[in-house]
Amino acid sequence: MTSLMSATEPTPSPSGKLHQEQQPPRHKLVATSYPAMAAILERWSPRSFADRPVEPEKLLSMFEAARLAPSAHNTQPARFIVGCQGAGIGYDRLFRCLSTGNQLWAHSARVLILAAAIRTRLSQREAEPVPYPHCMHDLGLAVMSLILQAQSVGLFCHPMAGFDPEQARREFEIPPLFEPMVVIAAGYLGAPESLPPDLRQREESPRTRRPLSELVFGDTWGQSLWQLDLSEAESA
Ligand SMILES: Cc1cc2nc3c(=O)[nH]c(=O)nc-3n(C[C@H](O)[C@H](O)[C@H](O)COP(=O)(O)O)c2cc1C
Repeated sequence: MTSLMSATEPTPSPSGKLHQEQQPPRHKLVATSYPAMAAILERWSPRSFADRPVEPEKLLSMFEAARLAPSAHNTQPARFIVGCQGAGIGYDRLFRCLSTGNQLWAHSARVLILAAAIRTRLSQREAEPVPYPHCMHDLGLAVMSLILQAQSVGLFCHPMAGFDPEQARREFEIPPLFEPMVVIAAGYLGAPESLPPDLRQREESPRTRRPLSELVFGDTWGQSLWQLDLSEAESA
């Protein structure tokens, strides 16, 4: 591990310690300077999924993880609609809502999940609906918990904004107060060879990230945190 005390952000190196039964290809691992949980290091959004069913207990563990996510005033705004290939009609309904670009690859995912959030919350004092400006933030926390839980049991997820939320509202009779926000493709990792050439090329490209120093500031916006001596904070 590199110390945060160094004056400049350390050069990231390829991530090392992984634990999954189904590891991502090495080129999908982003170089990192500091350790992170295995599920975070291993997560990426594939377009090719394996022709292998998802065990119900693994699928349901994803929603348990989402349920445990924090939310403002414990409002718990997230709701999910789950479509599994071969079970009911939810999968086909969700698939029809996807953009044609996403349909090109998402058909291989055994599971599609619609995530929606309520836009208002009940005020504790007045017991009436009040605006809930953090609803999508809190939905995002729940979705990331779901994605990381999936990753920790060997599954991969790919979130998509490319779908028609109004069509989803009609297909599933979603109440007006709820906003359909994202559809998540989930399943076991497939082979890139099964994709059309342009998608295969994207599947085989490295993932890119901004450097930490561009994201994390110290005393002033834009001023690198690495200019501070954080060891002083440790001993304060
Ligand atoms: C809210 C959201 C919407 C996205 N929508 C799409 C989409 O419609 N189609 C798609 O192929 N990928 C979509 N993605 C996936 C992103 O392109 C992907 O997360 C990003 O390129 C980073 O890659 P990684 O997830 O592999 O780290 C979406 C991701 C998020 C979080």
